[in-house]
Amino acid sequence: MSKVVGFYDSGIGGLPYLEWLKKHTTGCSFRYLAESAHFPFGTKTEPEIKSIVAESIGRFIESEHPDLIVIACNTASVTALELLRQKYSIPFVGVVPAIKPAAAISRKKSIGLFATNKTVSQLYTKNLIDTFASGCTVSKFAMPEIVAFVEKNIFTAAEDEITRIITPAADFFKKQGVDTVILGCTHFVYLEDTFKKVLGSTISVIDSREGVGNRAISLLEKIKSHADDGKGDMFFVTSIEKMPGNYKSISSRYGLSFGGEI
Ligand code: DGL
Repeated sequence: MSKVVGFYDSGIGGLPYLEWLKKHTTGCSFRYLAESAHFPFGTKTEPEIKSIVAESIGRFIESEHPDLIVIACNTASVTALELLRQKYSIPFVGVVPAIKPAAAISRKKSIGLFATNKTVSQLYTKNLIDTFASGCTVSKFAMPEIVAFVEKNIFTAAEDEITRIITPAADFFKKQGVDTVILGCTHFVYLEDTFKKVLGSTISVIDSREGVGNRAISLLEKIKSHADDGKGDMFFVTSIEKMPGNYKSISSRYGLSFGGEI
């Protein structure tokens, strides 16, 4: 008897979010879907993202019967969360940029948002800023190359390569004079340590893991356990063909068996 928690991202970005929840819960089993056939999301149009996400989430639900799904992708959440809630009856937890906590801790009221092209330009993000950070200046930076780098190379790259790839982002935020940077793309959580080093100790770096994890926990408390099919923690992709060879070893790092394609 356990509760099945689904996680969804365009690739490996959602794994640090899954890791957080796994650490803070008992009695759950985890299923992760990487939308590998359509990576990346951040440079696609709104209709493209909506249709990809709605379709693959439908297959995920049909195949894994999750009790709850964490859309562990800011781009998918700010673009398609409303649609998913209209279309499917199971509870969803979205991952959106941590604008509210950033506004609360920023002393200079100057925040950086480091996210995908789609997330920085989406109306949902503008509304979050207007609602929770109206007294702050929000400087936005997107660079698709960084998302692709993380997806393909993060576990094999040397520290100086990681430093090189994030330096344009760090330089931009320093120039803007921000004191808090939001990692508004789940892929960027992997860059946290190096990014902090490059930014220096006067700039805080935050993400949404804790807020999202706590929201998932409170929803899970209201869900009754059911007999799942005993598959255990699994990692799936939507296309094996497009799967970089390292996906299998990455999934095992997070304690997930590789379940192939759904
Ligand atoms: N990891 C995703 C996010 O949080 C999207 C990366 C992409 O596919 O462009 O936005």
